[in-house]
Amino acid sequence: MSDQKYLLGIDISTTGAKALLINSQGEVLATATTALHLSMPQPLWSEQDPQEWWQGVCESVKAALTQTNLNSADICAVGLTGQMHGLVMLDENGTVLRPAILWNDQRTSAQCDQIRRLVGKERLIAITGNDALTGFTAPKILWVKENEPDVFQKCRHILLPKDYIRFRLTGEYAMDRAGGSGTILFDLEKRDWSDEILHTLEIPREWMPPTFEGTRITGSIGLQGAADTGLNAGTPVAGGGGDQAAQATGVGAVRPGVAAVTLGTSGVVFATTPAALVEPQGRLHAFCHSIPGRWHLMGVMLSAAGSLQWYRDTFAPDVSFADLVAEADFIQPGSNGLLFLPYLTGERTPHPDPLARGAWVGLTALHTRAHLTRAVLEGVAFGLRDCFELLRSAGLETITEVRISGGGARSRLWQQIIADVLNVELKTVNTTEGAAFGAALLAGVAVDVWPDVDQACSETLTITGAVQPLAENQQLYQHYYEIYKTLYPALKSINQLLSA
Ligand code: XUL
Repeated sequence: MSDQKYLLGIDISTTGAKALLINSQGEVLATATTALHLSMPQPLWSEQDPQEWWQGVCESVKAALTQTNLNSADICAVGLTGQMHGLVMLDENGTVLRPAILWNDQRTSAQCDQIRRLVGKERLIAITGNDALTGFTAPKILWVKENEPDVFQKCRHILLPKDYIRFRLTGEYAMDRAGGSGTILFDLEKRDWSDEILHTLEIPREWMPPTFEGTRITGSIGLQGAADTGLNAGTPVAGGGGDQAAQATGVGAVRPGVAAVTLGTSGVVFATTPAALVEPQGRLHAFCHSIPGRWHLMGVMLSAAGSLQWYRDTFAPDVSFADLVAEADFIQPGSNGLLFLPYLTGERTPHPDPLARGAWVGLTALHTRAHLTRAVLEGVAFGLRDCFELLRSAGLETITEVRISGGGARSRLWQQIIADVLNVELKTVNTTEGAAFGAALLAGVAVDVWPDVDQACSETLTITGAVQPLAENQQLYQHYYEIYKTLYPALKSINQLLSA
């Protein structure tokens, strides 16, 4: 009998329910994903059925188990991660009361104003670390109170997507602290619910579950959870973390000084902080990390690789991403005076504005498709630079290493452009399994496979590549970045008129 240890990470993203099995060397033994539907019943709304998440988790866990000859009793712990901020409301019996309202739902502008009015914007940022944004959970609760009073009356429990899966697996109401802080009902420094915010917003304290660090056990698989998933009853389930904290854990961005850039549909710049640091105007998100005693600041662009996806689907649907990007490699940095604004779905950082819009600025008849492509890649890099500038202004001067991951990071040219625009060295790591991998590491720490997260990362992650910024591009990109920064304010009033 070997002393090999096996861990399961479960990720409920917006597009799929994923199960990932690893061993204590960090080798991936199995992975299975069940696709999920997104419902947009009205403009600006974005919802999902929690029952579909659960069915997806059951299918993916069973599929992952059958890919290996492991017995489910060999799995020593389960870690959870998933989309943040989504609102799940349950009645006293744990029955779902309405579809979950997701992180990318934009219906709550009025409730965000209401929160700022009731709490005071400065006080809100001082306690929670964040301004009220439509994506976060608190304004969604107020929206239900105002628009669906019957649902609000019946509500007894509030959970996040991952924590609804925890409830189905273990029968326990519990939440991890990285996720909890994304509700903006949290006292960031105390790492638990803020009685002041809950009281001011008249949200009953008893609706909120107990919260746990990502590396703590929150419960174990119950009999029903075992019957539905094929997991062994009694297997411990760890706190885990919101997808961004777990993704950062999964690439080893767990210490101050090592930042993570994730180039997925959205673009994220994530930096660990040793204390509850806050960007004074709330332009960066400030949340708990999934690691005890650590926090993080984060900038989120809503359309990063999503911009390239839209561009290809719209203008070159028959061309592969690789071919399209290869054309852009022949174009000089700066795309011959063409700039792209990546605000195709509004923006969060640095402009929290659902009405921000995308644009190419500077088009001439000399520009070709290759220039437009390069401008898209560069525009996303400038957006990431905006996030970095805010990190610096929040006091994070010393970022010595940046680890890049996500679908867009597969392009070597895009990596080079980002390294040049940020003027930092970018590194890649051996795993591309992201948040589910991070959740499995957190579960391993919870059951002492590793003594702490730093050790879990150093034993399972290795650097596989590095891209240095090119000195000869610095001045040019600095020049274009200065112009890029003037575009959002210049176009703001025009975009407001257009979206009206
Ligand atoms: C983070 C955020 C997204 C969602 C969905 O603030 O909104 O990362 O968690 O992935």
